[in-house]
Amino acid sequence: MPKTVLLVYSGGLDTSVCIPMMREDYGFDRVVTVTIDVGLPAGELKQAEDKAKLLKTEHYSIDAREEFVTDFIYPSIKANGDYQGYPISTSIARPLIALKAVEIAKKIGGIDAFCHGCTGKGNDQFRFEFVMRTFMPETPIIAPMREHTMTRTWEIEYAEKKGIPIGQSKEKIWSIDENLWGRSIEGGRLEEPNYAPPEEIFTWTKSPQDAPDTPTEITIEFENGVPVSINGNKMNPLDLIIEAHNLAGENGIGRIDIMEDRIMGLKVRENYECPAARLLIPAHQALEALVCTAQERAFKVLVDQKWGELAYAGLWYDPFKDDLEAFINSIQPRVTGSVTMRLFKGSAQIIGRASKYALYNEDLASFDSKTFDQSEAVGIVKTHGMQARMYHTVKDN
Ligand code: ARG
Repeated sequence: MPKTVLLVYSGGLDTSVCIPMMREDYGFDRVVTVTIDVGLPAGELKQAEDKAKLLKTEHYSIDAREEFVTDFIYPSIKANGDYQGYPISTSIARPLIALKAVEIAKKIGGIDAFCHGCTGKGNDQFRFEFVMRTFMPETPIIAPMREHTMTRTWEIEYAEKKGIPIGQSKEKIWSIDENLWGRSIEGGRLEEPNYAPPEEIFTWTKSPQDAPDTPTEITIEFENGVPVSINGNKMNPLDLIIEAHNLAGENGIGRIDIMEDRIMGLKVRENYECPAARLLIPAHQALEALVCTAQERAFKVLVDQKWGELAYAGLWYDPFKDDLEAFINSIQPRVTGSVTMRLFKGSAQIIGRASKYALYNEDLASFDSKTFDQSEAVGIVKTHGMQARMYHTVKDN
């Protein structure tokens, strides 16, 4: 039986370096590479496939974009998925990538170990390994980047020596992760909290100054808590996310610059472009605000926050997530209706919302309504803040 390792392969420098390493330093005879497409930049899947062929691995490519939208982005929209101002775009893709790797490992059989290219400083090691250990607990996991703390320069030299094509790796100063829900840009001077991000790091969003000078108004329709059409055009889930991405990006919406507390506690500066998320989550929130009771709204903020923390930590298969989703999902059938937004130079302003489940009644709220006898308010207003008023009386005496 050949000793076999399954490498979660992006085609980038780190994971490419892993291939000869697995053979020469870790003693594997058979290297299986798996590339999962959750919205890779154009051409990158092909590049990964070509490199895998050149490096003579047994390669599998999987298009998981549809599944990423319906099983990962949708739950995230329902939970208004956020961690510290970040729409957890990289975070929610990792469990799916690991899950697909496990599925392939089970299908082809004979896998002696997993390998991934995560470093020991980041969050992705937690997310990948949690899923791998959950579904294939006996299979060891190797992370060469973490074991050997390699520098980029060392990796480039090693790659050249081993005949791995490195493309523009030498000039690439930013570490970028892209999927359908967002783009994360790290590295170089971007790590300094006080360094203004240069315009060149943004490729998905127009700079607000270059965005169109006239506002774009759009109406997004939701059914059961998820978007189903934009401006009356029903679209499949994948196309809808792409359409939202384009509309927001064109109008300069989606740039995020935050301080982020990583799972380990490390405080880091992060830059993101999440145009689709920055359109669809505020729209979803606007609709929830129309259909939920005051108590539901207050409680959902807490549930959403816990959900965001779990998803950020990659604990996608924690039963607590199911518990939180039981509440979240019980509300979503009412999150059906439409939201109108005005997109203009970096801002996405909500300018209207409508739903057949709206807890709003024109007759009750209106100033000239007769249904509600205002004189009945007199008594209840008198008791308002009774204890606080008593405190001031007691304090003064
Ligand atoms: N900080 C983000 C997260 O943990 C993004 C990490 C991946 N970014 C990257 N450039 N490789 O979700």
